[in-house]
Order: sequence, then structure tokens, then C-alpha cells
Amino acid sequence: MKTEAAPFRLEDYRAPAFTIDTVGLDFQLAPSATRVVATIALRPNTDEARNGRLELVGDEIVLKGLKLDGATLPESRYTATPTLLTLHDAPNRPFTLEIETLVDPAANTKLMGLYRTSGTYCTQCEAEGFRRITYFLDRPDVLAVYTTRIEAEKSDAPILLANGNPVESGDVPGTDRHFAVWHDPFPKPSYLFAMVAGDLGVITDSFTTSSGREVELRIYCEHGKEARCTYAMDALKRSMKWDEDVFGLEYDLDIFIIVAVSDFNMGAMENKGLNVFNDKYVLADPDTATDADYANVEGVIAHEYFHNWTGNRITCRDWFQLCLKEGLTVFRDQEFSSDMRSRAVKRIADVRTLQARQFPEDGGPLAHPVRPEIYHEISNFYTPTVYEKGAEVVRMLKSILGPDDFRNGMDLYVERHDGDAATIEDFLASFADATGADLTQFKLWYSQAGTPQIIARGAYDEADRTYRLTLSQSIPATPGQSDKQPMHMPIRFGLIGPNGEDMEFASVSGGRVEGDIIHLTEASQTLVFEGVGGRPVPSLLRGFSAPVRLAIDISAADLLFQVRTDADPFNRWQAAQTLAMRNLVASTTEQIAGRPAKAEPALIDALGSVLDDETLEPAFRAQVLQLPSEADIARELGQNVDPDAIAAARRELRLAISTGLGNRIERHYGSLSGAESFRPDAASAGKRALRNTLLDLLLARRSPEAIAAALAHFETANNMTDRLAALSAITQAALPERRAVLDAFHKRYQDDALVLDKWLTLEATVPASDTLDRVKALLKHPSYSPNNPNRVRALVGSFASANQTQFNRVDGAGYDFLADFALELDKRNPQTTARLLVSFRSWRALEPVRRARAEAALRRIAAAPDLSPDTLDIVTRTLA
Ligand code: PHE
Ligand code: ZN
Repeated sequence: MKTEAAPFRLEDYRAPAFTIDTVGLDFQLAPSATRVVATIALRPNTDEARNGRLELVGDEIVLKGLKLDGATLPESRYTATPTLLTLHDAPNRPFTLEIETLVDPAANTKLMGLYRTSGTYCTQCEAEGFRRITYFLDRPDVLAVYTTRIEAEKSDAPILLANGNPVESGDVPGTDRHFAVWHDPFPKPSYLFAMVAGDLGVITDSFTTSSGREVELRIYCEHGKEARCTYAMDALKRSMKWDEDVFGLEYDLDIFIIVAVSDFNMGAMENKGLNVFNDKYVLADPDTATDADYANVEGVIAHEYFHNWTGNRITCRDWFQLCLKEGLTVFRDQEFSSDMRSRAVKRIADVRTLQARQFPEDGGPLAHPVRPEIYHEISNFYTPTVYEKGAEVVRMLKSILGPDDFRNGMDLYVERHDGDAATIEDFLASFADATGADLTQFKLWYSQAGTPQIIARGAYDEADRTYRLTLSQSIPATPGQSDKQPMHMPIRFGLIGPNGEDMEFASVSGGRVEGDIIHLTEASQTLVFEGVGGRPVPSLLRGFSAPVRLAIDISAADLLFQVRTDADPFNRWQAAQTLAMRNLVASTTEQIAGRPAKAEPALIDALGSVLDDETLEPAFRAQVLQLPSEADIARELGQNVDPDAIAAARRELRLAISTGLGNRIERHYGSLSGAESFRPDAASAGKRALRNTLLDLLLARRSPEAIAAALAHFETANNMTDRLAALSAITQAALPERRAVLDAFHKRYQDDALVLDKWLTLEATVPASDTLDRVKALLKHPSYSPNNPNRVRALVGSFASANQTQFNRVDGAGYDFLADFALELDKRNPQTTARLLVSFRSWRALEPVRRARAEAALRRIAAAPDLSPDTLDIVTRTLA
């Protein structure tokens, strides 16, 4: 068993000992032996530096040469290990260090630093990958101007790319090599450095900024896939325009480049002027991408582009401030997608993701504040809490300040901090100073982990025409944090009157209420609304205005009324989900007691009235008809979780709903055509979503007619969305017919890795007892590749995170499999391994037998020798 190195703490932050003004990088590319010469101009910045000690970090560095101001440095003046270069007597004046290193891109399976993907050279430097290329002050508050020269064999790498603008290129005389020089005038931290070289296809376009500058746009991909990049290019141009219109932010270089690669640990990376993408977030066409894929491409393209200001021009002082760029940029991409599509449907989708990914993190052993204060391994903090909860915090800030003051605060933030490595304090001070708001209490959202619980209680006094609403907040204890302070929460609300419209009130006391926002700031507050014309149905937390759990004592009849009338579409959806969740929880209890599930009439009424309401968008109706997932139910139960009972209860309830809605399902399904030619816009996607949701509900009956409909849906589909929806319905129902359709699908797409990922996921998520064996067999299938993170996540990641019954098999075989797999993968790709193991995060909520088996698997991993720091960190915290 290995023990961990000392952690990093926010409170220990010190300014860097040296400043770096410029960096020159010279790459002599070769697959297994790339030479890198880094020429770094340093200046002492602190007393420590003036005492002559310089430490540059590295990671697996092979040093080939070291010069100071052009002269080779004698070995007595420095110490070099693979992880650290120490100069014992650095000059007390500006000086230049020339570091020559030798890198093996072909052997780099960690996909951090310089590596190869399908024959292309590519770098990934966030968070700490630059130190795998050369020794450096590899921290985000060291900002330098980079010039990059790349030289390679022409046939091996005809395309040579780096950050910034191209300045020079040509042949190397007398050789079959060529070179290119790129210069990035904007000072940046090392994590934003990028270089790409290879034989790639490209599409080009251009964008004229609001001030009239012409920007060249390029998207590179594997040869033959150029046509699949056009939607990404369109999304890029719309992103550039939107950031000008909504935030007044313009692009700043002459060229913006995106490169799609097939081996990538994450989604994409915002390197200055040279974004590198996991190809699944670039490539899209009707035959291979679903509507969800199109939406993801649009969102990720926007996200990385928006980082140019929130992340690059203003970066983070240290990695504790990660949410400064990520939370803010997720908020920005969510707003962009809301403007491009349906705001209500986008909000529902984002809240579903938040609740599915962030809530379990916040409620388990890996809980941490939006701004963590301690970490062992920063790669493990690219989390739903930093990203999605971080975005919710920005959204609340906007709700509290109002849209105009929010924009004023953003403007001041950009004006003040352009070119800085900033902090959350800087961010909040910009909003406070621009608006006069006091954000002291609000700031607790950045430091207090755990999902707050709000309990709401309302009472109407008919005689007084008074409505009293008591709101109480509490925040559960989380690792390292036992006592919490009340926070400032914006609660968007309405009081729905008997006719379904929001009622006016004459006055309110007991708290600050501005427009439709209640500012909840105390542990408990009672708001007294006077002059309320009738008993209201309270509609609270409209638009999910705060990332909390809301418990409210409200009858099924009132929920049904809310589903039918609430002016806020999000809360119409929420009311239906609440009805469904109550029914699902009750059914799970019944299941354990051996009694059948039955659908509550109010739930059938609610779903039926939304299904029949043609004034509502189809995409919204589809969202309402989708029940909470098995994992949602497990989270709601919170303890003694039996995934088999949950799955059975949910399956039975779906059958009861399907039967209860009767032939209205067939009628609506039949009225939506699958024959129209594919367009990726939100309205078309919404119709497909409703039709496909109805098919899934129909198949809950498992009748011969339903099965025939699903098979026909699969056969006749003219796009991937419909084809995959039918396939998913058939596999999720674990029908015996699944084998033939899965095989047909594989055959049709056998040369398309991204589509085969969908196939692997379907195979891995069948809720049947032979699935684990199938997953093990697929590890040897030619369509699977152990070194590609997308393949690993599609097969093993989906099994562990999206197959509740089979990963949580009562015999523990699912846990043992993941442990064995992780121990193997950890030797090659620690980041991807650590992320897979997050599937264990809710182990303590399981019933005792499974809990013991999960714990045993985790302990076995923890006891293994030579674990990577990434994996050791996750298992240690998960077990703590
Ligand atoms: N910064 C990237 C993003 O959110 C994510 C990322 C982190 C990519 C670390 C690679 C490595 O846009
Ligand atoms: Zn990001």
C-alpha cells in the first residue's frame, strides 16, 4: 500500500519566485524521440529568488542539455531529477535558461504532455502536462509570451500548428523536413500551450468581428471526415457572434483553430487560438450523430470558445480557483444553448445533469466546495461541483443582482482583470463594486460543500387574506466541514391562484422580496404576504433558482394543478417529477414487501394532460414523460439502497403508466412522422424526442405490437437519433430481440469508432444477468481498444455508471470487475482510471451486503502497490 504525498492548500499560496517574460519552444518532432529546446527568459520576483535558488518542476523529464545565457551550465551548478530541476545559484538579475529535453510521444499513454493520436502529434497541458515537455514554473500565475517553432518530416507531419498567429514557414534545405513558427502575443500560463502536427484534413471559414477584423477559422480532422465538421463550424461562428452580442467580447487573434483528435482524456481544451477537441464533440452528421450529439457539439464548441475571455485573457491565480474559469464558462455555454434552443427544455436538461452528477458527489465522500481548499491531485477536481455547481453559483449571482447589474459586474471584471491571473475574491469584488451589492454572505457558496436542503411550509388564512410561508435552510455535514452558516439563496417564486394565474399581493414582510425573488438569508424565515385573494399553490424555486433540495408539504392534487397551470415551465416539469418520484419511492417499498406497483391516478392525469397539450413544445412534453432514473430514485432513498428493487418498481410503474395512458400513446406516436428529412434544429429534435419517448413508453408493455413497432422504428429510421432510440428501447427492455438488432447495428457501423461507442454503451447497459460476461468478452472485441479513453468510457464507464442493477450485482462481481480493470488501466492512463472509479462514490448508501462487497473491492484497490497519485487520491477519499 502506498501513502500519499503532502497535499496542496489554498492558504499556502505564495507568489512565484521568478517571473517568466518569454518562452521560445523548438520542437524537432520524431515519433519516439522528439527533441525540445525551451528558451526561457526569467526574472527574480521574490527574496527566495534573489537568494539564488530556482526550482523548475518536471514529470518524467529526460534532460539533454542546459545553458544559462547561452553557455553550457556545469553539472555542479544544478541538480536534475525527472521531476525537478534545481539551480543552486541562479543570477540575481534577468537571465535566460535553455533547456533541452527528449520526449517519447509514441510511448505516452497518459495522454498528458506531448503524445501521438492516430499518427498525429498533439499536446495536452492542463492542468500539469507542460512539465512533461520541459522543466518549468508550471503554474497558472506565470504568464509568458510564447513563440513556437516546429520542425518535422514533411510526409510525417505536413500540418504544423501552435498557439497564436503564424509568422513563418518553409522547407529545411537539404532535408525532407519543413518547419513553421507561431507567435502568440497574449501572455498565457503554460497550461494553455498547445502544439499539433500531423497529416490532417481541414475545413475553413471566416468571421468578421464587430469591430471589423477578419478572423480565419479552421477545423482540422482525420482525412475523410471533413464533411462531419460543418455543424461545428456553424456553432463556432454563432458562438463568436453571441459573445459579442451578449457579453461584448470579441475574438483577438487573426486565426482560430480547432483540431479534432480521437484519443483525449476529457471533452476538449481551450488552448489559446488552438482548441484541441475529443472528436466526439466535433464530428456530426445525420447518419452518425444523435440530436444529443449535435447539442453537445454546439455546447462544447461554445464552451471552449468562451474560455478565450473567461479562462485565457483572464486566467486563474492557482488551481483552487478552477471554478473561476469553469463555473463561469459553463454558465456562459448554458446561456448560449438556451438562446439557440428552448430555454425551458435546456434548463430541465441541465438540472437533470446537475442532480444526476453533482448531487451524488455533494452527498458522498468526494464532496468538496466549489472552490476546494485542499487537494492531492488536481486532475481529480475537474468535477461536476467545480463545473456545474460552479455555474449554478454564477446563475444565482445573476438572479440576485438582476440581468443589468450582472452585466455591469462582468464588464468591470473584464476591464479590471484582463491579462491577470485572478481569484474568486477578484470576481466577486467586481460585482460588488459595480453594483454596490454586499456579497459577503453569498460568498459562502464557494466554500461550503453539500447540497442545502430547504423545507417550505405554507398556510393561508382566509379571514385575513394572508399567506404565511416559512422557509428553513440547512446544509448537511461534508468531509472536513461539520458546521455550516446559512447562505444567501435566491428563491424565484409565484403564488398560483385558483384560476391558474399568479396572484398579486398587497405587501410582504418577514424578508426581502424583489420582483419574483425571495432572498432567503436566515436559517429560517417566515414571509407574510398580505392581501392574497385566495388560497395559493406556492410555486417555489422556479427555474431551479438555487442548487438545493426543496421539501414541501404539498398534496398530489396541488401538484397536478401545478403541472397543468404553473406559469414557469420548469416547475410544471418539476411538479410532474415530484408526483412520479413519490409514486416510485412508494412502489419500491411495495416491491420489497412483495406487492405490485400501482400508478397513482394523479400521476397518470398529470402525464396525460401534458401529453395531450399541443400548445406545449414536443421537447418539453418528452421531458415530462421521462420518469426519474433508477439512480435518481436511489439518491432520493439515500440509504439501504437495493438497485434490483428500484429497477423492478420502476419497470412496473412504467408498465402501469403505459397501460394507464392507453391508446393515447399510439395516437400521438402515430401522428408524429419519422419520415421527414433530418434537420438538427431544436424544434425538429423536439418532435423526434417526443416520438422516441412514446416508443419507449409503449415498449414498457412488451406486447407483440409494441415490439413490432420498435423493430420497424429501427428499420425505417432515416437518422441516428431515431435508430439509436429504437435500439436503446429494445436493449433497455432486455428483449431477446436485442441480439439481432445490436449485431445489425454493429455491422452497419463497423468502421466508425464514434458510432461503435454507442454500440458498446448499449451492450454494457442491458439490465440482464449476462451483461457482465458480455462486457468482459467485448474487452477482446476488435472494435474495442484499451488505450482509447472514449472506448473505455463507452464500455466500462457506462457499465459502472449507467447499469445500476448489473454493476451493483449482489454477488459483488460488478465491483470486482471494475477493480480488476482499474488496476490494469492505472498503469497506462491514471486520469481515466480515477474517473471510472468515481462510480463507487455512493457505496455507503447501499444495503449491507452490497455495501460490504463494494468496500472490499475498494480496499483491494487501495492496497495495491504503485497506484498512481490520481487513483490513490480517489480511493482514499472514497473510503475515508
Ligand atoms: N479546461 C477544459 C474545459 O473545461 C477541460 C480539460 C481539463 C481538458 C483538463 C483537458 C484537461 O474546457
Ligand atoms: Zn472549461
